[in-house]
Amino acid sequence: MKVSVVGAGYVGLVSAACLADVGNDVVCLDVDAGRIRILLDGGIPIHEPGLLEIVRRNVQAGRLRFTTDERLAALHGDVQFIAVGTPPDENGSADLRHVLAAARGIGRYMDGYRVVADKSTVPVGTADRVREVIAEEMAARGVDLAYSVVSNPEFLKEGAAVEDFMRPDRIIVGADDTRAVDYLRELYAPFQRNHQRLLVMDVRSAELTKYAANAMLATRISFMNELANLAEDLGADIELVRQGIGSDPRIGWHFLYAGCGYGGSCFPKDVKALLHTANQQGHELPLLRAVELVNERQKQRLIDKIVLRMGENLHGRCFALWGLAFKPNTDDMRAAPSRVVIDALLARGASVVAYDPVAMEEARRLLGSRQGLKYASQPMDALADADALIVVTEWKEFRSPDFARMGRQLRERIVFDGRNMYEPAVVRRHGLEYHGIGR
Ligand SMILES: NC(=O)c1ccc[n+]([C@@H]2O[C@H](COP(=O)([O-])OP(=O)(O)OC[C@H]3O[C@@H](n4cnc5c(N)ncnc54)[C@H](O)[C@@H]3O)[C@@H](O)[C@H]2O)c1
Repeated sequence: MKVSVVGAGYVGLVSAACLADVGNDVVCLDVDAGRIRILLDGGIPIHEPGLLEIVRRNVQAGRLRFTTDERLAALHGDVQFIAVGTPPDENGSADLRHVLAAARGIGRYMDGYRVVADKSTVPVGTADRVREVIAEEMAARGVDLAYSVVSNPEFLKEGAAVEDFMRPDRIIVGADDTRAVDYLRELYAPFQRNHQRLLVMDVRSAELTKYAANAMLATRISFMNELANLAEDLGADIELVRQGIGSDPRIGWHFLYAGCGYGGSCFPKDVKALLHTANQQGHELPLLRAVELVNERQKQRLIDKIVLRMGENLHGRCFALWGLAFKPNTDDMRAAPSRVVIDALLARGASVVAYDPVAMEEARRLLGSRQGLKYASQPMDALADADALIVVTEWKEFRSPDFARMGRQLRERIVFDGRNMYEPAVVRRHGLEYHGIGR
């Protein structure tokens, strides 16, 4: 099938590469000429495990092309995926500028029937607006072609995006006409060979499903964080409580980890956008508002612990920080808790030496060269002149560090574990002071 994907970010590039990998002829469009240049030069602009190999393989096979040419993309795909960013607007709503610009690009040049599929996370009602702007563009050039707009929200996780796309739990298709559903059924058939995973529903329910999923996951995290803070005061260990409740199949194991708050490009903005949507309908969603509030507070939690232990004035103090990305296996630092921690430490006069397995370049791009902030090329190098270590992201390579060496290197021998990676007793056995979350 001929497919165009608008947007070459975490969702667009992964979708384009995986769709090409099963034999489709894919054109991937981005307005960012720098991104497309990297792709044309044989690289990829993001870190995503396994993605580079798939991109290379399919470019070589001639099934995957990259372009900045809107016209080329609009003329190519029978199915046109919109996978551009939907960042939060100032009032918390999803900014639909990129989505509508992408839709206009399709309407401006399409020359026959198209299925336009919204893969971006967009508020309920967006498909109607996409439909409208395509109609406007066609009217402007005096043509009237048939097209369908469907909602096909994406559920892949950064860090496991290729795996998730190749083996989805479910494929949601929100559509009002069967012609479009037939196209997507055919396109997704290779990804659901052992059993049907495609769930067809109306467009609005599909759009809401994506927000419901992220809001639910964010709720679980905030719930655990709230209980973690209580556990601390009660002398209980939230890690043991987590195991105690996760073993109940009605609750399950996922997204029950207490820590220093959720971040990333999706949960914070999607919770905000859903609150905004509800507000417009006259609903408050007090539960979700609390989820957001708890998360905002939780991002401060590590700082509160540091200040409680080391004082308000951190001038002359140096902290090693492990983990800049908002979660392991990605270089994405959008709304990463590490940024809150770094900002707060620098503001209090401390210096920070940060290390991350893959997000260092992204950190330099986002944070620039700030007074007091340095980067180390190895995790243990970050500890060289540090008083304490702060673990913000649970990368695998931090799981079992050389605690004896850590104890020799850290001046004050303190570990602030923002992800409860370590067993407190093990850390303490090496003469280190341990501060986790909810333990
Ligand atoms: N990142 C995730 O894990 C994830 C998962 C599921 C859903 N989503 C949703 O998918 C959407 C995309 O997210 P992302 O993380 O891939 O974003 P991203 O920022 O990584 O990529 C978006 C890309 O779109 C490009 N773009 C913007 N306007 C364009 C236009 N008019 N034409 C062509 N390209 C354009 C940008 O240059 C950028 O490269 C968002 O709505 C997001 O909420 C993201």
